[in-house]
Amino acid sequence: MNQSFETEVEQIIAANGASTDLARASRTWMEESIRARYSYCFRWLGRPVIQYPQDITAMQELIWDVRPHLVIETGIAHGGSLVLSASLLALLELCDASEARRSVVPLRPERLVLGVDIDIRPHNRAAIEAHPLASRIPMIQGSSVDPELVKQVRKVAEEHSRVLVLLDSNHTHDHVLGELDAYAPLVSPGSYCVVFDTVVENLPSELCPDRPWGPGNNPMTAVHSWLESHPEFQIDPQFNDKLQLTVAPDGYLRRVR
Ligand SMILES: C[S@@+](CC[C@H](N)C(=O)[O-])C[C@H]1O[C@@H](n2cnc3c(N)ncnc32)[C@H](O)[C@@H]1O
Repeated sequence: MNQSFETEVEQIIAANGASTDLARASRTWMEESIRARYSYCFRWLGRPVIQYPQDITAMQELIWDVRPHLVIETGIAHGGSLVLSASLLALLELCDASEARRSVVPLRPERLVLGVDIDIRPHNRAAIEAHPLASRIPMIQGSSVDPELVKQVRKVAEEHSRVLVLLDSNHTHDHVLGELDAYAPLVSPGSYCVVFDTVVENLPSELCPDRPWGPGNNPMTAVHSWLESHPEFQIDPQFNDKLQLTVAPDGYLRRVR
């Protein structure tokens, strides 16, 4: 990228991050959009993805920069986020082939997305398994913090040299702490652990009805408390600064060593 353009963009992002007007408008919009159940309105390559378009764009940037061999995701739901990661990994493999001047990509995918969910509904499983990208998407059913399941995931991670982790399952403080303890050690240095729905901390509690999580007990409280004893991870501020509209404020954690 042209150096002066890159510098200009860095300055824009820093200025946006410091703008109280933008922060106020973003906060209002986030609250109204969550009230309107905005995150349920999107699909990725045919599957419903319960994410905001800004976070989807950030995922594209992350996967391009990190070039992971394995993405581990907790929280499958309809499978849209698995298909999103799988599609980006497929593009990376296309790029690998082009860089190596090979005209074909390997038949057996080398870069995989491992999905974990306590309840993979039969219709969702069937649709994910019928998707053209299914060969890159192994899934395990069970609680993401079950020690036996974590052992299985660790075994898969050991076979891959660069690992990215996305946590989007049960959003209580204790559950996310358990997930961070189990999955963050699998993240490769330079890669990320992204913790979704940290935004809950910024919402009025009426927006989390019938949920065991809410302000004071959510992914952000878990992230802040976990980071106190994990200096190997840091919140990457560029995602807060540039996304503004995100369900994961303070949730993009970079492994710095
Ligand atoms: C917000 S949805 C995931 C959305 C998905 N990542 C996406 O972007 O489309 C949360 C999912 O977490 C799953 N879940 C809840 N508790 C869990 C647990 N203890 N272990 C694993 N998955 C869990 C639910 O079954 C649900 O499918």
